Amino acid sequence: MNLNSGAERRAVTARAPGRVNLIGEHTDYNDGFVLPMGLPFDTTISMERRDDRTVTISSVGWGETSFSLDDDPGSVESWARYVAAMAHFLADEGLPVPGVDISMRSTIPGGASLSSSAALEVAAGFGFTAICGAEPDPVHMAKLGQRVENEVIGIQSGIMDQLISATAREGSASLIDCRSLESTPVNLPDGTRVLIMDTMTRRELADSEYDLRRQACERAAAAIGVPALRDATADQLDAVTAPLDRRRAGHVIAENDRVLATVEAMEHGDLAAIGALMNESHRSLSEDYEVSSEALDQIAAIAREHDGTIGARMTGGGFGGAAVALVHDEHADAVATHVVERYEAETGRRSDLWSVVPSEGASIVSIA
Ligand code: GLA
Repeated sequence: MNLNSGAERRAVTARAPGRVNLIGEHTDYNDGFVLPMGLPFDTTISMERRDDRTVTISSVGWGETSFSLDDDPGSVESWARYVAAMAHFLADEGLPVPGVDISMRSTIPGGASLSSSAALEVAAGFGFTAICGAEPDPVHMAKLGQRVENEVIGIQSGIMDQLISATAREGSASLIDCRSLESTPVNLPDGTRVLIMDTMTRRELADSEYDLRRQACERAAAAIGVPALRDATADQLDAVTAPLDRRRAGHVIAENDRVLATVEAMEHGDLAAIGALMNESHRSLSEDYEVSSEALDQIAAIAREHDGTIGARMTGGGFGGAAVALVHDEHADAVATHVVERYEAETGRRSDLWSVVPSEGASIVSIA
């Protein structure tokens, strides 16, 4: 981050999108591969400089709150904690973060595994950096957002959500190597569309289960003798003697291969292969990694019933939230109608569905 790039600013508006992950689940914290894309839904933060150390936030839907830059971010109330923690980490790095009045709005459905909290962290990071007259470095903002989750919120999550929110490209998904943090644009196959299907169930106990999965992966990597499961192959799994750890590690190793195979299949327009890989990813997450839920299994299975569906799987951390399907363009509406009707008949819940295009990562919208 260049702290000398310009004079401090009076007002800044920054935005950052949510994401949907097409394949590569629970691989990011194993230094592996993921294939997410930015969503056309985002969080926008407008901030105006104050001459004290108070941050006020008013937000449509979430109400109003305030905190001092001198408060411990962990003591700040729920959603404002993400903003407070970002400000805190930036100030720790020497950025002269000022008190600000923030008005905020978000079009990202909350709790649907579409990374609304990562978008909040990244938008806040971009905003605070720009108001200090510095240029936000997207990868650095993503790393700080991950630190917010790990050190302040208390979830040992990986880097995928923040990194795609900060670096997504309009028009393409991103193959991200979560070790080097390099990302490569990947075009969706011609004639296809991405459909997000919200189960309308929300994650429960997800945070503690998430951390348990991560620990299982670390034990398995240690048993095999590699720095991370990214470095392991299926024939090394015998070294993992604990059966449950072996099953978890098996998912991660195969899922990494599936991401790379999906990218290759996308380059060749091999829709049948992409569909099989997405479906197998879901099966593995459900049966081997055990992070799916009845509702996620149901909605993915219902989507697959329709001929217009190429593949369907849960997306994000799991235990509730949304699933994703790749569908044939001309059948997208028919698939959506089928899913809403059948899912409601089976569960009594009316799903929200969105047909989405890969959208731009975080940006500064205006600066004064
Ligand atoms: C959550 C985490 C990510 C990633 C996914 C699972 O979204 O925040 O880092 O681990 O779960 O792929």
